[in-house]
Amino acid sequence: MDLFSIPPRVCWWRIVFLLSIFQDYMSSMLDCPPTCRCSTTNIFCNESYQGNFFPLLALQDTVNDGNTTNSLPDLFENISSIHIENWSGLQTLRDVDMELYTGIQRLNIVNCNLRTIQSRAFAKNPYLRYINLSGNPLTTLSWQLFQNLQLFELKLEGVVFNCSCNIRWIQLWQQRGEAGLHNQHLFCNNGVFKIPLQRMNISHCDLPEISVSHSNLTVMEGDRVTITCNGSGVPVPEVDWTVGGLHSINTHQSNQYPPNVHSINLTLVNISRDDNSFMLTCIAENIVGMTNASIQLSVQCKCSFSCSLSLECLYIEPQCL
Ligand SMILES: *[C@@H]1O[C@H](CO)[C@@H](O)[C@H](O)[C@H]1NC(C)=O
Ligand SMILES: *[C@@H]1O[C@H](CO)[C@@H](O)[C@H](O)[C@H]1NC(C)=O
Ligand SMILES: *[C@@H]1O[C@H](CO)[C@@H](O)[C@H](O)[C@H]1NC(C)=O
Ligand SMILES: *[C@@H]1O[C@H](CO)[C@@H](O)[C@H](O)[C@H]1NC(C)=O
Ligand SMILES: *[C@@H]1O[C@H](CO)[C@@H](O)[C@H](O)[C@H]1NC(C)=O
Ligand SMILES: *[C@@H]1O[C@H](CO)[C@@H](O)[C@H](O)[C@H]1NC(C)=O
Ligand SMILES: *[C@@H]1O[C@H](CO)[C@@H](O)[C@H](O)[C@H]1NC(C)=O
Ligand SMILES: *[C@@H]1O[C@H](CO)[C@@H](O)[C@H](O)[C@H]1NC(C)=O
Ligand SMILES: *[C@@H]1O[C@H](CO)[C@@H](O)[C@H](O)[C@H]1NC(C)=O
Ligand SMILES: *[C@@H]1O[C@H](CO)[C@@H](O)[C@H](O)[C@H]1NC(C)=O
Ligand SMILES: *[C@@H]1O[C@H](CO)[C@@H](O)[C@H](O)[C@H]1NC(C)=O
Ligand SMILES: *[C@@H]1O[C@H](CO)[C@@H](O)[C@H](O)[C@H]1NC(C)=O
Repeated sequence: MDLFSIPPRVCWWRIVFLLSIFQDYMSSMLDCPPTCRCSTTNIFCNESYQGNFFPLLALQDTVNDGNTTNSLPDLFENISSIHIENWSGLQTLRDVDMELYTGIQRLNIVNCNLRTIQSRAFAKNPYLRYINLSGNPLTTLSWQLFQNLQLFELKLEGVVFNCSCNIRWIQLWQQRGEAGLHNQHLFCNNGVFKIPLQRMNISHCDLPEISVSHSNLTVMEGDRVTITCNGSGVPVPEVDWTVGGLHSINTHQSNQYPPNVHSINLTLVNISRDDNSFMLTCIAENIVGMTNASIQLSVQCKCSFSCSLSLECLYIEPQCL
């Protein structure tokens, strides 16, 4: 095709189009953080560096030039692995730092100066499976950071925690062999000595226990029922019923029974037949971990007419079977 036969307008759009592709390409090249090497799937930063920010691929102003909004999320989403080593300025992993890397599977932040990880740092990274935080001056870490992840491996070699109830969960995970923690030699500092984490003995620091007033529950449509869930333990747990997707009107009432019971009454009003087979789950959690208990709801229908012939009822309300 002869380029000069194309009307100038079309040609102009083409150039803009090509430019924008080129710009995308350039931005993915240019915005690799200093001292790092980037590919479409990896960010690898192993040179010592003083910067105190988490490596981000693209800068704000490249977003505003032209319409690159489609490719930018892609650029982040496709990153499956980030390695950061020897970044002495990196002290805090903030909630926002990882939120664009929604496809990330592997994160290494090793031998940096990491002291704090904010509570929602991994909230947007459901595929994160391997995390290596070895060699950082972390003194505490919360299990809630990882609660929505299916971790295969959490490496914490060379981290010396403060012995406290806050890290009791790591001890429990080690005992249960979760996230590869049982293969690691972990330590904590009790204020005097550095001791193996397995020897840490913290009193008043246990997983919550749970007790529910009913096992499986059979009710009539339109009924009202109250189910009690007691979470107990030290520290006293947060307790709640999960009712997402429940059709019946429901209220929660919280009550504390000192010293260590937190009780929630869930009241269902005018129970709907749509809730037949619904699983009600009560969750109790504290800094040591989470315990849950579920009961299944069976809702029997009332017939629309006050008939006594069951055959007729079955005919009218076939879904009640
Ligand atoms: C970083 O990694 C590259 C390739 O793996 C290696 O050649 C280089 O020596 C490393 N740099 C440091 C400071 O370890
Ligand atoms: C880490 O950085 C320090 C200086 O900031 C340097 O002395 C040391 O060799 C680096 N270590 C590695 C493994 O790159
Ligand atoms: C480019 O962005 C502008 C403003 O955000 C928008 O109005 C326009 O439809 C976009 N064009 C394309 C091709 O996406
Ligand atoms: C991201 O990955 C998808 C699928 O592998 C690919 O089609 C797309 O071009 C990639 N985007 C970027 C910016 O690399
Ligand atoms: C985690 O990082 C440490 C320290 O750099 C390294 O020795 C270890 O091999 C890493 N482990 C994994 C599973 O990447
Ligand atoms: C850990 O212990 C050190 C020294 O005992 C103390 O300065 C620091 O505040 C403690 N960190 C936490 C998170 O409790
Ligand atoms: C832990 O400490 C308590 C007293 O604080 C003691 O009774 C118990 O035997 C200790 N357990 C272990 C395993 O050392
Ligand atoms: C919950 O705890 C209270 C106070 O200890 C007790 O009276 C009640 O029976 C408990 N209920 C259940 C379901 O365990
Ligand atoms: C409750 O119902 C579930 C599902 O039908 C069943 O697996 C479980 O054994 C029942 N539990 C009790 C205590 O009846
Ligand atoms: C919770 O429900 C039980 C059983 O219905 C009742 O005895 C108790 O008083 C209720 N507690 C609160 C705080 O309402
Ligand atoms: C109970 O629910 C049914 C249908 O779910 C509705 O028709 C009825 O009006 C409700 N009754 C009350 C008292 O809210
Ligand atoms: C209940 O606990 C089990 C085992 O810890 C867990 O697999 C499950 O996801 C929990 N359920 C909810 C609703 O959190």
